[in-house]
Amino acid sequence: MVIDKLDMLNQSQVLRYYDELDRDSKKKLLDQIDNLDMSVLDETNAVEQRGEIKPLSALTLQEVHKQKEKFNNIGVEAIQNGKIGCVLLAGGQGSRLGFDKPKGMFNIGENKDVYIFECLIHNLLEVVKKANAWIPLFIMTSVQNDVDTRTFLAEHNYFGYSKENVMFFVQEQLPTVDTQGKLMLSAKDTISTAPNGNGGWYASMVKSGVLKIVKDSQLEWLNVFAVDNVLQKMADPCFIGAVIDSQKESGSKVVAKADANERVGVMCLEDGKPSIVEYYEMTDEMIHSRESDGKLSYNYGVILNYLFKIENLNKITNTKLPLHKAFKKIKYLDDKGNLINPEEPNAYKYETLVLDMIKLQDSCLAFEVEREKEFAPVKNKNGVDSVDTARALLKLNGIQL
Ligand code: UTP
Repeated sequence: MVIDKLDMLNQSQVLRYYDELDRDSKKKLLDQIDNLDMSVLDETNAVEQRGEIKPLSALTLQEVHKQKEKFNNIGVEAIQNGKIGCVLLAGGQGSRLGFDKPKGMFNIGENKDVYIFECLIHNLLEVVKKANAWIPLFIMTSVQNDVDTRTFLAEHNYFGYSKENVMFFVQEQLPTVDTQGKLMLSAKDTISTAPNGNGGWYASMVKSGVLKIVKDSQLEWLNVFAVDNVLQKMADPCFIGAVIDSQKESGSKVVAKADANERVGVMCLEDGKPSIVEYYEMTDEMIHSRESDGKLSYNYGVILNYLFKIENLNKITNTKLPLHKAFKKIKYLDDKGNLINPEEPNAYKYETLVLDMIKLQDSCLAFEVEREKEFAPVKNKNGVDSVDTARALLKLNGIQL
């Protein structure tokens, strides 16, 4: 059966060491093939056509400032009433950074230890203190980094967070393919797989059982954010308050673009629904288009910090998100059976993206924040969005390294 399945998909190369395997390894490989979602190999599942894109304005810094106290009060009240949970997306592989441990374990300090996880938890603890209430923190890991993440956080005593309020869940895996569309092996008895992208977080919460905790509690909103922004402000009462006050179904923190050509996904309307258009999908005309006040029409870049209403997430759990193919450095077994660790991207992983969940919401509040205070991504070793730029921004915010 399994062998037929591979034949039909023209992927029998993954059985090339099968005859050398012992009984357990044979079973392991066949079970993996049986359970793996191979539908991704069908290119007709590729990303769909975009609808009609139009600008979407944001609640600007000035507007936020005017109502800050009101928003803060609404947000703090929601936290105190146990309505807010946080979801830390930490299942990525950080291949651009080239750090082989979970990115949150990266030590960004210079003269002392300052870990990325520590920066994030420190910011969350500020809110906990302000509200005088714990906020449940769900951490999404991957098969590859789950043990390291749990062990590291336990060893560091959760950087002062309450252990009872930290819950882990593991995201799903999808097969990876080489440039010819062929499945690869990561060991003689294992097909190479990679985490299925940050869009799988809610489905993985459902599958792993942690959603039961959400359902049994009073939680109404989930604030979802990336691990690699060291200035990330989670469960920010002002943001939460503004979204609740706006009566919209979701919210997204945004920053004004540094310049028209900045390579960032921006908030827009797509066929009348809130959405995000990637920089490479924008025409020159869209990039340079301006509104009557002189601001860029597509001005507000997303920083991977979203607020979702749980009620709405439950309605869309069965909706399939578009699949994106990302070209990455992926270890593989060569024809001689050697494990190759490539220096450059060599293969594709399939991902769904959390930003595609915005399109499934009827409304979304784009909430502008100050870039220098809230956006310091650590993506690359050097240059743009790197360890150096993040260190400079941390120092600018008075954090000693
Ligand atoms: P990125 O898109 O930057 O991916 O993740 P990455 O895997 O961390 O890094 P590169 O591209 O290989 O260098 C943005 C956020 O989404 C999370 C990451 O941990 C980060 O917080 N993420 C990404 C997941 O949780 N799971 C994934 O499968 C991918």
